[in-house]
Amino acid sequence: MRLLVTGGLGFIGSNFIRLMLDRHEDCKILNVDAKHYGSNASNLADLKDDKRYSFLEGDIADSALASDLVRNMDAVVNFAAETHVDRSISRPDSFLHSNVVGVYSLLEALRHHNPLARFVQISTDEVYGDILEGSFTEESALLPSSPYSASKAAGDVFVLAYARTFGLEAMITRCTNNYGPYQFPEKLIPKIIIRAREGLKIPVYGTGQNVRDWIYVMDHCRAVEQVLLRGRKGEIYNISAGEEKTNLFIVKTILDMLGKDERSIEFVEDRPGHDARYSLNSSKIRHELGWRPKRSFQEALRMTVNWYLQNSDWFRPLVDDKILSATPWRLKW
Ligand SMILES: NC(=O)c1ccc[n+]([C@@H]2O[C@H](COP(=O)([O-])OP(=O)(O)OC[C@H]3O[C@@H](n4cnc5c(N)ncnc54)[C@H](O)[C@@H]3O)[C@@H](O)[C@H]2O)c1
Repeated sequence: MRLLVTGGLGFIGSNFIRLMLDRHEDCKILNVDAKHYGSNASNLADLKDDKRYSFLEGDIADSALASDLVRNMDAVVNFAAETHVDRSISRPDSFLHSNVVGVYSLLEALRHHNPLARFVQISTDEVYGDILEGSFTEESALLPSSPYSASKAAGDVFVLAYARTFGLEAMITRCTNNYGPYQFPEKLIPKIIIRAREGLKIPVYGTGQNVRDWIYVMDHCRAVEQVLLRGRKGEIYNISAGEEKTNLFIVKTILDMLGKDERSIEFVEDRPGHDARYSLNSSKIRHELGWRPKRSFQEALRMTVNWYLQNSDWFRPLVDDKILSATPWRLKW
C-alpha cells in the first residue's frame, strides 16, 4: 500500500506511521508535514534508515502540492492540523488555514487526480461540544465550543459533502483525548509528568472537575488502521476507550505514580468556554470493525509516565530551561 500521511511529525501521526510500518510489510509511507508548532522531527528519527519511509516538508493547504502528493497514492490519512485549544483562542487564523483550507485542498486534489483513493480525516470528539449526561453518537449535532473545534467541525462537513457529492472514498474518525509517547509537552499529561519530575507547581484550570474521556495513543492508531482498511465510505467512526476522568484525578494519579506531594497542585483561572465533560459512544466501530482498546487506563498511564521519565533527551529541547529551573505557576509555551 502507498500511503500518504499528513502531519506525521506530530504526536499521533508519528505513532501511527510507526504502527503501520510495524504491522504492514508492504506499506510505503510518505509523510508530509509543514513543521508547524507541535511538530518534532525527532519523533521519527528511528526511521531514517527505513526505505519504506520518506519525508517531505510541505503545507497541505498548498493546492499544487496537494495535487502532486495524492496522484500515486492508494490512501491518504490526514492528521495535519493546528491542535492546541488555548492557541486557537489567541490566534484562530492558522486554525482556519490548516484545519479547513488544508482539508479542502486535499479533497479537491483527490477529486481531480485520484478519486478512488481512500481518505481518512482524523477529527476529534470536540466537534460535538460538551455533554453533562450520556454520550455522543455519530448522529449527534455538531456544537463546537472553541475556534479549534469549530475549525475541525468545518473540515468534517467538507469531507462528508465531498463523499456525497463527488463519491470520494472518504471517512472520518472522531477520537477522545489521547496520551502516550511523543506528545508535545504543553499538553496536560506530559506537562504534569515533566513539571512534577522537576518539582514545579502543577497548574489546574478552575476546580479541576472538567471530565475528559482518555485513550492511549496506540489504541487510537489501531482504530485508525481499521477504518483505513475496512471503514465504509462516507461514514463517521467515534473512537473512545470509555475512560472518563476529571483533570484533578489525572493530576493526582500521576503525582501518586511519581511519589510526589499533592500540595504542588495550584488551581488557576479557568479557560474561557472550557468544556465541562466529553463522552463518546464508540459502539459503532466496536461492532462494525471489531476494534476495542487493548490497554487499561492505569496500565497505559504507567507506561506513559515511564516513557517520559526515560526519554528526557526527547522532551528537554522542547522545554525552555528558564521554565524548568524556576517555579512559574503556568508554562509559557
Ligand atoms: N491529541 C489528541 O488528543 C487528539 C484527539 C482527537 C483528535 N486529534 C486530532 O488528531 C490529529 C493529530 O493530533 P496531534 O495531537 O498529533 O497534533 P500535533 O499538533 O502533535 O501534530 C499536528 C501536526 O500537523 C502538522 N501540520 C499542521 N498544519 C499543517 C499543514 N497545513 N500542512 C502540513 N502539516 C501541518 C504540524 O506540523 C504537526 O506536526 C489532529 O487532526 C487532531 O485534531 C487529536
